[in-house]
Amino acid sequence: MDKFCFAGPSYGVEPRAKLAEKIIGLMPENMGKVFFTNAGAESNENAVKIARMFTGKFKVFSRYRSYHGSSFGAGNLTGEPRRYALEPGAPGFIKFFDPYVYQEAIKFESEEKATEFYVSKLREQIVYEGPESIAAIVLETVTGSNGVIIPPKGYLPGVRKICDEFKILLICDEVMTGWGRTGKMFAFENFDIKPDIVTFAKGVTCGYTALGGVVVSKDIAEYFNDNVLSCGLTYSGHPLGCAAGVATVDYYLENNILENVNKVGNVLGEILEDLKIKHPSVGDVRYIGLFSAIELVKDKETREPLVPYGKDPEGIMKAVLGKLKEKRFMTYTHENIVIVAPPLIITEEQLKEEMVKMDEVLTWIDKEYI
Ligand SMILES: Cc1ncc(COP(=O)(O)O)c(C=O)c1O
Repeated sequence: MDKFCFAGPSYGVEPRAKLAEKIIGLMPENMGKVFFTNAGAESNENAVKIARMFTGKFKVFSRYRSYHGSSFGAGNLTGEPRRYALEPGAPGFIKFFDPYVYQEAIKFESEEKATEFYVSKLREQIVYEGPESIAAIVLETVTGSNGVIIPPKGYLPGVRKICDEFKILLICDEVMTGWGRTGKMFAFENFDIKPDIVTFAKGVTCGYTALGGVVVSKDIAEYFNDNVLSCGLTYSGHPLGCAAGVATVDYYLENNILENVNKVGNVLGEILEDLKIKHPSVGDVRYIGLFSAIELVKDKETREPLVPYGKDPEGIMKAVLGKLKEKRFMTYTHENIVIVAPPLIITEEQLKEEMVKMDEVLTWIDKEYI
């Protein structure tokens, strides 16, 4: 703040350069440059623009159970009900189904069988839509607010293969999953794929200041050496935001934050599995690193969600969140799902203490609603 309260985006400033270099250093070798934004929605908006300019194609695929931001473009990418306020939406935003195995009408023998189904249906839809008009597939690497849906084995490599076959860019939205949340610096590292574009925000500054960004491949970066990058924001790469980003990323690395996420993440997984066995209201638990969800059902057999999709006429989930808040367990609920995503620095003891509160609230749900 003392050095530069502000410098326009076309001027070089040290924190911006330092942060971009750090980010590229953490990415696979195919990634080339970073375009900074102020938040997640802006990152996704600009990722789509970049993909359209680079490919010369216009359609964009994204999934139903997704949230990519609430501004106009990001809101059109979004598949869940927060998109409805923008409808009728912009042309060219196509939705496809998520690998939401737990609530799928078909019961698959294995993760591989599930992957085969979802990837082949996606390929079929792409063929019907016309691959020559499709610029990108945008997905949350692990679906976040819509239920921590972890892709089945082979799913993301399968999507990558389709992208390669039809020259479609793969954009991973890592706004929620980036910066250590899933036990790797970026969630795509869990699944053995290299995206063409990665969007990030939130964790890059740990929330201390507003900052987001779009990381693009070397191929894309090179294209814009000779072509106009028609993206611009007054606060793109704000020196204060980038300085906070440098400090935050240094903290993550110097304190080996990933080790804690993985260590405490294992304990979180064990606790969640125990809660699933103990409580009739818990249909499924999903977890990776310190990113997890508890899916509440009326009946474990039928898997009927505790509240219907997009509605909560009796205010059940509001009451659940209220009970958690009363105990000062601060979190987020969405549809019939409670997200558990503690701070990356949480200790095992702190986690256990907090999850006792969750256990108590689940007992209350069992009695009240099951
Ligand atoms: C996966 C994902 N993408 C994008 C966004 C939008 O980010 P922002 O609210 O910073 O615009 C969010 C916000 O929660 C998100 O979870």
